[in-house]
Amino acid sequence: MQRKKITILAGDGIGPEVSSWAQKVLQLIAKGFQHSFYFQHALLGHAAIAATGNPLPPETIEACKNSDAILLGAVGDPLYDNDPSIKVRPEQGLLALRKTLGLYCNLRPIKIFDELLHASSLKPEILQGADILFFRELTGGIYFGKRSRSADGSQGMDTMSYTKEEVQRIARKAFIAAGKRRGILHSIDKANVLDSSKLWRETVQEMAAEFPKVKLIHMYVDNAAMQLIRDPKQFDVVLTGNMFGDILTDEASQITGSLGMLPSASIGNQWSLFEPIHGSAPDIAGKNIANPLATILSAAMMLEFAFDMKEESQVVINTVSDVLKAGYRTADIASADTPLNMILGTQEIGEQILEELEVKLFQAVVI
Ligand code: IPM
Ligand code: MG
Repeated sequence: MQRKKITILAGDGIGPEVSSWAQKVLQLIAKGFQHSFYFQHALLGHAAIAATGNPLPPETIEACKNSDAILLGAVGDPLYDNDPSIKVRPEQGLLALRKTLGLYCNLRPIKIFDELLHASSLKPEILQGADILFFRELTGGIYFGKRSRSADGSQGMDTMSYTKEEVQRIARKAFIAAGKRRGILHSIDKANVLDSSKLWRETVQEMAAEFPKVKLIHMYVDNAAMQLIRDPKQFDVVLTGNMFGDILTDEASQITGSLGMLPSASIGNQWSLFEPIHGSAPDIAGKNIANPLATILSAAMMLEFAFDMKEESQVVINTVSDVLKAGYRTADIASADTPLNMILGTQEIGEQILEELEVKLFQAVVI
């Protein structure tokens, strides 16, 4: 029996819908394994701006710091999209939260469920067996460098900077993970042009001696973008900076068929936050068509990485897999041959997940 306090930041757009299903999954897991999970909710993003004027109110920081793990839905609202001059924006809340909690290591596993091979726009034979773990640096790089706008507004500037220590702490985690997997580490940079990338490459190269069993391959980001869809199976663990990782993981999501399937974990020394890779998808918010599986799989990552509950986590993953095996889909992962009655809404697939999970937790097979 373990007691855990979980802060839920539902956020914007489809965030509240998808995170509420992940919460229900966690509640059922707690019941099945006799844990006690206590949930508290706090505001982030546009939801927080609308209520308080601040995308990351101090109460939200407090709530997050006082919890064992954080589950995030998504942030972002179209209100801000066509007016880049708006100073206070939802994404600032997420970035400030990552920085405040020191969540420098963003894990993004890219793994295809066999059932979804045909949902991708890529050829199934290219995808089958692809299994990549991205380590995206999350609290440095161009996202957090100095930025400015000239007085007359005609020039904008951002700075990309990395320190050796920032590279080392995430590279270490990536080397260790590669050692436990297939032993291949691709480090992605643009060292043919950028100084911050030269430092990145030198630093990772120096560390390679500590991990003789891991094969380190340096790759330029433009080539990596191409190789990812040409032959994703060549990759095992991929280590990248903040912006390259943002772009490459959206691209890599197509390997799994849909952005709607991808969970992530953002880990620091003290706190950890779990969120789907997809955004707030305002165009489909409130329509009961969003795919909650990425958030449910993020909850599974929480169980494993924040609470060390491997069995609990695996039950959630198996549940998702079995619901897909049974043929159920949301619209984003349906293919041309999916029967219409198997294409479910957010609520209906959520209910299928809970039903399947109940069977797994409470109805041991009696022979
Ligand atoms: C992500 C998102 C965020 C990012 C946005 C919402 C700021 O795209 O988590 O990948 O760029 O990091
Ligand atoms: Mg992104």
